[in-house]
Amino acid sequence: MEAGLHGRPSSLKMISSFVKRPSGKEKGVFLALDLGGTNFRVMSVELFGDRTFKVGSTSRYTIPKDLTVGDGKELFNFIAASVDDFLTNNKLPLDKKYGLGFTFSFPVKQTAVASGELIVWTKGFAATGVEGRDVVKLLNEALSKRGISCILVSALANDTVGTLMAKSYQMPHCASGVILGTGTNACYPEEKELGGIIINTEWGNFDKFKQNRFDIELDEMSNNAGRQLFEKAVSGMYIGEIFRLVVLHEFGLILGAELQKPYSLTSADLYELETGALDLKKFGFDKLSPEKIEELKNISRLIARRSARMAVTAIVALLKKEDASISGEHVVAIDGTIYEKFPDYQKHMREFLRELLGDKAEKISFELAKDGSGVGAAIIAAVAALDR
Ligand code: BGC
Repeated sequence: MEAGLHGRPSSLKMISSFVKRPSGKEKGVFLALDLGGTNFRVMSVELFGDRTFKVGSTSRYTIPKDLTVGDGKELFNFIAASVDDFLTNNKLPLDKKYGLGFTFSFPVKQTAVASGELIVWTKGFAATGVEGRDVVKLLNEALSKRGISCILVSALANDTVGTLMAKSYQMPHCASGVILGTGTNACYPEEKELGGIIINTEWGNFDKFKQNRFDIELDEMSNNAGRQLFEKAVSGMYIGEIFRLVVLHEFGLILGAELQKPYSLTSADLYELETGALDLKKFGFDKLSPEKIEELKNISRLIARRSARMAVTAIVALLKKEDASISGEHVVAIDGTIYEKFPDYQKHMREFLRELLGDKAEKISFELAKDGSGVGAAIIAAVAALDR
């Protein structure tokens, strides 16, 4: 983290977000566009200026897979078309101006609160012509091509920063925003060196840990080999694939054809396996004895438990950067489907926190910040509006 902050070679990019935590007094109605993976949302958020807010209309859109790996212009045109659809459906008067916060959950080298270049795609995205470009500019171009002139993109945010902003709007001393979902990442306010400016660590790219043979195989077959190694061991996009590789090596060809396809088994399938809701036939597991099914469940639990323990290790390291002996209380805002939905994930996290910190573990609380990334982007748009 220190190397990244001071511009020395590091697997952690430690990117400035150009914002500090909100005061809680920010007020007004803002729009938020939240692009984090194949789903994205457009929403309106009303901030009341007294640490409370209300999420208004929300529309969700699924980005067709071919657009995530096709021409970047088409991807942004699709986003603009969805914004158009949102404005029409909600009958928003088009003669007004709306401040919009854009959550773009990929590594972006921010140059100001409302501009920044995509460094490199993650999470399977590979659309051309976006890396190295200012994503706010690309969004503005697509909006104006579509004739939308009522939107002023006044903030660009990573989802971790959005999550931290949303929780901090409600409780002032939130120490970190963490995502444990399709991808993983965290941010924190750098008090000592930058007076509280929020830093996006991009910890998904951390590479100083020992990979096992399944991690190595997964990485070598991915479209971004050598990158996002921590993310590939921890996050939802990959834990189903680790499971598939383990099972293929251990159980071999007796399993169905579906399991031969990379990424055919998702983290949602793993939750279902553990809760007994999975259609066993789909992957050829119906041919296995009840004992073997128990073994499969155990493999799934071990992969999730390792993910939870690695996530906690990283969270503790981050907190210790600002408070070396964990003498104060710390609230960590967390969002993401793995954290929220994976059976026993939160229990594994608490257990490991205790193993690492003993009684001091009680000083750390994990707070779910459901859908915080969109709300947080609206808050940043409000902060930016106050600064002008
Ligand atoms: C991206 C981060 C993002 C994280 C969680 C990672 O792949 O690099 O910017 O915060 O996913 O969505």
